[in-house]
Amino acid sequence: MEEQSELVPYDKRWEFPRYRIKLGIQLGVGCFGRVVKGEAVGIKGSGETVKTVAVKMVRSVTNVAALEALVSELKILIHLGSHMNVVNLLGACTKKISQGELLVIVEYCRYGNLRTYLMNHRDKSQSFWQYQQDPDVTLTRSISTRDLISWSYQIARGMDYLASKKVLHGDLAARNVLLADDGVAKVADFGMAKKMHFDIMTQHRSKIKTNAGLMPVKWMAIESLTDRVFSTQSDVWSYGVVLWELFTLGKVPYPGFGAGHQLIQAIQNGYRMEKPNKAPNLFGELMTNCWKTDPKERPAFSQLEETICGHMESTV
Ligand code: ADE
Repeated sequence: MEEQSELVPYDKRWEFPRYRIKLGIQLGVGCFGRVVKGEAVGIKGSGETVKTVAVKMVRSVTNVAALEALVSELKILIHLGSHMNVVNLLGACTKKISQGELLVIVEYCRYGNLRTYLMNHRDKSQSFWQYQQDPDVTLTRSISTRDLISWSYQIARGMDYLASKKVLHGDLAARNVLLADDGVAKVADFGMAKKMHFDIMTQHRSKIKTNAGLMPVKWMAIESLTDRVFSTQSDVWSYGVVLWELFTLGKVPYPGFGAGHQLIQAIQNGYRMEKPNKAPNLFGELMTNCWKTDPKERPAFSQLEETICGHMESTV
């Protein structure tokens, strides 16, 4: 495991002393890693005060693949730098990496992941009983179409920033978008992200092939499903699925389908999801465009951003 840390061109400026961070409750858990809430003293942007942070770590210190994924995520986060619509790195504890221990410290996003948030805020306005029984409910505003549009805009901005840094996300989904204060949406979870290299010989930006493993089939572009090819254009496909998740308030995509061969076959035969009822027509068109079979025909994140911005301005 020693060589893993050697593979990281790690910038020591990110190192944060382990004793200055107190770990708290679990915020989330995936197949490889888990995220806990933490209190860090004197971390980036907080002077010498205590700051609430989120800390990513592996679930098992003996899982080499999990550690590799987290090291890769740390590398990507360092390369990315900071943007308002991306979950930013605050520091890392790498001293015990040879024992399988690595802490990656990122911004804490108070409202958690977008999918759970959407599901928890369904039907708030219609539920008389909730108002009666829980006086706090009146304080939590229900989700408006305006909120959904604002989040879709912010996610496009975050993804455009990633694309500008030549990073492909590879796992864009509502579960991997976090909500911070003031309705700010941040793209998170770079465990599957890859840095694209530019191939000088062919002048083509390389498209990355991955091993078939645990893949988020319902968010994957047709070429990722059939040829294991990932690119910024395949992230655009996933973005279309995120739009669908937003306007269905967190439904599981392709209702009625499992995540298997039958779905892949249907998509290959041209099947696509319908525009959710709540989505303005423009967003139906955006989804259709994100799901074009030819990756080159899909819009760029910068175009999506611009189109949504134009829509917001025309509907104020
Ligand atoms: N769950 C996973 N990552 C998180 C974060 N950065 N903030 C809040 N909840 C999270």
